[in-house]
Amino acid sequence: MEMNLLVVAYLIGSVTFIVGLKMLSNPASARKGNLVAAAGMTIAILATIFLYKDESGNPLGNYTWIFAALAIGSVAGTLMAKRVQMTAMPEMVSLFNGMGGACAALISVIEFGHLEEKDPATLLIILLGLIIGAVSFAGSIIAWGKLNGKIKDFAFGGQHIFNLALLFFILGIASYLVIAMPENMSLLFYGVVALSILYGIFFVLPIGGADMPVVISLLNSFTGVAAACGGFLYENKVMLTGGILVGAAGTLLTILMCNAMNRSLKNVLIGSFGAGATPSSSGAQGGTYKEVSMSDAAVVMSYANKVMIVPGYGLAVAQAQHVCHELEKTLEAKGVEVKYAIHPVAGRMPGHMNVLLAEADVSYDKLLEMEQANEEFKNTDVVLILGANDVVNPAAKSDPASPIYGMPILEVEDAKHVIVNKRSMKPGYAGIENQLFFQPKTSMLFGDAKKALQDLLAEIRSI
Ligand code: TAP
Repeated sequence: MEMNLLVVAYLIGSVTFIVGLKMLSNPASARKGNLVAAAGMTIAILATIFLYKDESGNPLGNYTWIFAALAIGSVAGTLMAKRVQMTAMPEMVSLFNGMGGACAALISVIEFGHLEEKDPATLLIILLGLIIGAVSFAGSIIAWGKLNGKIKDFAFGGQHIFNLALLFFILGIASYLVIAMPENMSLLFYGVVALSILYGIFFVLPIGGADMPVVISLLNSFTGVAAACGGFLYENKVMLTGGILVGAAGTLLTILMCNAMNRSLKNVLIGSFGAGATPSSSGAQGGTYKEVSMSDAAVVMSYANKVMIVPGYGLAVAQAQHVCHELEKTLEAKGVEVKYAIHPVAGRMPGHMNVLLAEADVSYDKLLEMEQANEEFKNTDVVLILGANDVVNPAAKSDPASPIYGMPILEVEDAKHVIVNKRSMKPGYAGIENQLFFQPKTSMLFGDAKKALQDLLAEIRSI
């Protein structure tokens, strides 16, 4: 009876993961989707603790250890998630993903100790979980360090060849262990642990710090596969389903991010974005640009029929989402139609802008995806760009020599007026000049996004 209950609990867990994932695909249901999947995970964990029985009918036991670990993990996780700044979210995701990889690798280490007879199939799964989990753990920790600035990009001549050789060496030892199953495997097995950790470090170290979101998504899919190996070992269906879903979702997200930047995964992993482009702080190369005063910007926007706001990374850094929402409401009260144009890779993580604006209670039906927004720019009077740069750079369409050539962009030049808020003429993430800033219909509104919006709001209210 208890065993049947366990199966039902696992089924509920698996279904909630799938439903939760589906709900995550829409900003309106994403928050609930997360809760649904978390509830499924809680059911799966509690069912394992209380209903699982081994072949001899013994329960799991070790309750003090299990609940102590659960309490420590829950408190630490909750505090970190509550305190994290929106801009530091990729860092936290990376750290948590690393912990998942470490768990999968530790499962393999423990199950290696339980391997009693010669069983190459089980050893194969153990080694797969170990290698993938250890690479994900070490790589995620390096990615975390890079994102918070503690670890600098590092590469040496021939590193990609060295990495490939190291990977083949690890796979060679693992294949030997599975095929030959020698009497004393421990030394080689722990050698694989150490070398996999080393590989994870060398794999991520040379990749540009700014490419970390793509790498984290890739490592996330690795953790999913490693967890699925654990599911195989324990014949645990919910672990298997969860692992496969994470593996598949991480892979899809990696591909989507690469497509949205028009770059191949290979280019992200062994190339470097914007390398060779010299960031200019003067803007002299691009010609002359004009500035707009707060009061003029306020007038243009107040008397417009339609205003499109383009949020970017700078909006997130300035934490200007709430005042941006205030601006939207104030303009709407004056009869101006306001919408937001969301580029898929605006900001530094998938869905960054949606999450940010949702936090400020911006209505989801105001958020236009890139294709919809590009249709509407023609009928837009004013585009207000808030801390976005690469995602509106026309070089992506017109300059085949540009590192972002081919990346789909928001075609803001189709609107009547473009107002760009940023602090200087410095480039964005890709490190390249933006000709949009020098076009006749563009005016620059310099300043920190939050301060600039507060001042703009005050001016608009006074009209
Ligand atoms: P960026 O091109 O990075 O431009 C952001 C701009 O914000 C900068 O030019 C900066 O100019 C300005 N800024 C910074 N702090 C500001 C502040 N406090 N107030 C006002 N402006 C501020 O951002 P984007 O247009 O959002 O493009 C995102 C980039 O990230 C793309 O190249 C994309 O490929 C890359 N990327 C995204 C992702 C995902 S999944 N979102 C993943 C990997 C890479 P100043 O310094 O002059 O202020």
